[in-house]
Amino acid sequence: MKSKKRYVSFFLCVIIITLLSFRNDPTKKITTKDVTFTNPKGFPKPNYNFENNQLTVEKFMLGKNLFYDNILSKDNTVNCGTCHQQFAAFAHIDHKLSHGIYAKIGTRNVPALQNLIWKDSYMWDGGVNNLEVQPINPITNPIEMDESIANVLIKLKRDSTYVSLFKKAWKDSIINSERLLKSLAQFTGLLISSNSRYDKFINKKDTFSLSEKNGLKLFRSKCANCHAEPLFTDNSYRNNGIKIDTSLKDMGRGKVTGIEKDNQTFKVPSLRNVEMTYPYMHDGRFKNLQQVVNHYSSPSNFSTNADLSLKKIGELTMLEKTDLIAFLKTLTDKSFIFDKRFADPYIRYN
Ligand code: HEC
Ligand code: HEC
Repeated sequence: MKSKKRYVSFFLCVIIITLLSFRNDPTKKITTKDVTFTNPKGFPKPNYNFENNQLTVEKFMLGKNLFYDNILSKDNTVNCGTCHQQFAAFAHIDHKLSHGIYAKIGTRNVPALQNLIWKDSYMWDGGVNNLEVQPINPITNPIEMDESIANVLIKLKRDSTYVSLFKKAWKDSIINSERLLKSLAQFTGLLISSNSRYDKFINKKDTFSLSEKNGLKLFRSKCANCHAEPLFTDNSYRNNGIKIDTSLKDMGRGKVTGIEKDNQTFKVPSLRNVEMTYPYMHDGRFKNLQQVVNHYSSPSNFSTNADLSLKKIGELTMLEKTDLIAFLKTLTDKSFIFDKRFADPYIRYN
C-alpha cells in the first residue's frame, strides 16, 4: 500500500515538473502553424515574403525575445516594445513624440507596426527600405537605444539563454548580426492585421451599421486615393495639408531625397487600428480622430504645398464626420491587438 502511494506521488511529481518546464519553455507554446505565412484574402503580394528567411518557430521566438529585451539598449533600459506597444497596434499611445533612452524625447511619433511586409520603405520619410536592416536604426540611434550592433552581439554571446536560443534557431553556435536581424524580421514581418470588422464586412462575415456604411462610402470618395484599400496606404509620400511644426522643422521625405518638391511630404500611414494609435501624424499633433477629421474638413487652413487631391474633400458636415469616424473604428482588429503570439513573452531575459 505504502509503496503504491509513493509510486503515485512520484508520478504526480513527474507530471508537475513536465508541465512546469512546458510552461517555462517559450518555444513550446507556439507551433509551426502559428508562424506560417498565408496571404490574407484580397491582399496583394507582399514585398518581403520570407523566401530568404524561412520561418521557423525557433527563429520567430528568438526574434520575439529580442524585440522585448532591454539587452538591445546601451544601459539595458529600453526594448523595442517600450515604444511599440501591442495594445496600440505597436504604436505608442498618448506620446506625441517617442521617448527613448536616458528619457530623451525623439523627433517623431511612434508609428504602428503592422503589415510591414507589404511596405517598400519604412519610417515616416521612407529613409529605410529593408525590413531586415531597419532595427539597426533604433538600436544605434543615440536617443532611442544608443547601442552598437557589435556590442549587442558581445552581450548576447555572454548570455547563456541567448546562446541556447540562437543555437536552437540557427543550428550552430554562431551569433552574428545577420542572424540577429533575420530573427527580428520574422517577428516584425508576421505582425499582420487582417481581421478587423472591416475585413469581415468585405468578406461578408459581418454587417455594418448605416453610419459605418455611409462612412465607408465617404472614405472611398474622399480618402482612399491615398489611404488605399486593403492596406489603407498607397505607400506614397504626400503633404496632407498639415502645416510645418516650426520647432521641429521636419522636412520629411525631402530630407531623404534632397528634392525640393518632396519637402514636408510624409509616408501615407495605414489606417488599420487607427482607433488605437493616437495621437496622430508624424509629430503626434492631433489627439483624436475628431481633430483629424476637422483638419481634413478645413481646406482654408491647409499648408501651401498641400496635395491637390485634398481639394475634393471639401467641408464635411457634422453627420459626415461622425460617419467617417464610425467607419475608421471598424478597422480595429482585436485579434491582432490581443494576439498571444506577439505578446511580451512570459520570461524576461535580463
Ligand atoms: C525610442 C522609441 C523606439 C524604440 C526603442 C524603437 N522604435 Fe521603432 N520606431 C520609433 C519611431 C519614432 C519610428 C519612426 C521613425 C521615423 O519615422 O523616423 C519607428 C519606426 C519603426 C519601424 C518602421 C515602421 C514603418 O511602418 O515605417 C519599424 C519596423 C520599427 N520601428 C521597429 C522597431 C524595432 C524592431 C525596434 C527594436 C530593435 C524598435 N523599433 C525600437 C520608435 C522606437
Ligand atoms: C493626399 C493624400 C491623403 C488624403 C486624400 C487623405 N490622407 Fe490621411 N494622411 C495622409 C498623409 C500623408 C498622412 C501623414 C501625414 C503626416 O504625418 O505628416 C495622413 C495621416 C492620416 C491620419 C493619421 C494616421 C496616423 O497614424 O497618424 C488619419 C487618421 C488620416 N490620415 C485619415 C484620413 C481621412 C479620414 C481622410 C479622408 C477624409 C484622409 N486621411 C485623406 C494622406 C492623405
